[in-house]
Amino acid sequence: MRRALVTGGCGFIGSHVVRALLADGWAVTNLDKLTYASNPANLAAVAADPGYRFVHGDICDAAQVGELVAEADLVLNFAAETHVDRSLLDPVVFVRTDVQGVVTLLEAVRAHPAACFVHMSTDEVFGSLPAPLEAGEDAPFAPSSPYSASKAAAELQLRAYAESYGMPITVVRCCNVYGPNQHIEKFIPLFATRALSGLPLPLYGDGQNEREWLFVEDLVEAVRVVTSSLPGPSGVHAVHVGSGERLPNLQVARQICALLERPASLITAVDDRPGHDRRYALDCSRLRASGWRPQVTFAEGIARTLSWYAENRATWAGAATAEFEGYIARQYGERLPAAD
Ligand code: TYD
Repeated sequence: MRRALVTGGCGFIGSHVVRALLADGWAVTNLDKLTYASNPANLAAVAADPGYRFVHGDICDAAQVGELVAEADLVLNFAAETHVDRSLLDPVVFVRTDVQGVVTLLEAVRAHPAACFVHMSTDEVFGSLPAPLEAGEDAPFAPSSPYSASKAAAELQLRAYAESYGMPITVVRCCNVYGPNQHIEKFIPLFATRALSGLPLPLYGDGQNEREWLFVEDLVEAVRVVTSSLPGPSGVHAVHVGSGERLPNLQVARQICALLERPASLITAVDDRPGHDRRYALDCSRLRASGWRPQVTFAEGIARTLSWYAENRATWAGAATAEFEGYIARQYGERLPAAD
């Protein structure tokens, strides 16, 4: 049986990928640090699957990573600090996990070259792109936030390893992903869960920043397509995954209120995020040439996502910890009007 090592499998995207790999017949080891952003409940349905193994650990732990990579045919790195606002408050942990962690994985793959390495990156490495520009796979990096700079730095390390050691490396750069299991700090789940509770929805700036939205199942399918053609030749092979559905935040916020039957007056303009990228856009023609297409429109995906948050409070409510409340106070305290 082929074995995949998935890092960050208790997180949002990782948990969907773990379930898909098990369904496809892979044995899966999930290495997860169980940070605030992880949620083991995301994997409750497969926890007892004989093909599934959970390992509590850190991608920066070279000894542990080395052992796990040695027994893997495929390594998929979804472990990361991912929230831009947190990276503005505390950049150092982003450099540790998103850069040092990736280098630790690369060292293990260099020592055990039978394992194919796929790394998850982001459209944010290109920074803000004015319309109608789209970033192709070879577009220059111009990250704006400590988060995106860490992801770009990791990609530079991938390039260095590919060049220096002749390693084949695949990098998947994705637009904003949404769907069930996403941590409630992110825009869509934050607004969904706060709207359900009748709380104000903190919209940054003028609300006209655009993001390209992809339903998580479409990303999982793209990962299937990408992994089915491994191992590739040496070098970095980048693949863009996007939907082409680019929407201003205000429109998404209004849609959330309308679908949840909450008043749009909950939407509250607050001070902008520093360095807030205006627009991201990916050119996905390389992946589309392989036949992949997004199957879920934003209209369908947002309705499914909102239903999931409305009906699965027990799964996500555990994220509303004291740490999370502290983060919300730190992040939004002075931005939002004081509660009555
Ligand atoms: P986010 O989910 O943080 O993803 P990213 O910044 O990585 O794209 O934010 C998506 C968009 O929503 C982004 O333009 C910032 C905006 N946003 C708000 O307006 N208010 C919020 O409270 C958050 C978290 C995000």
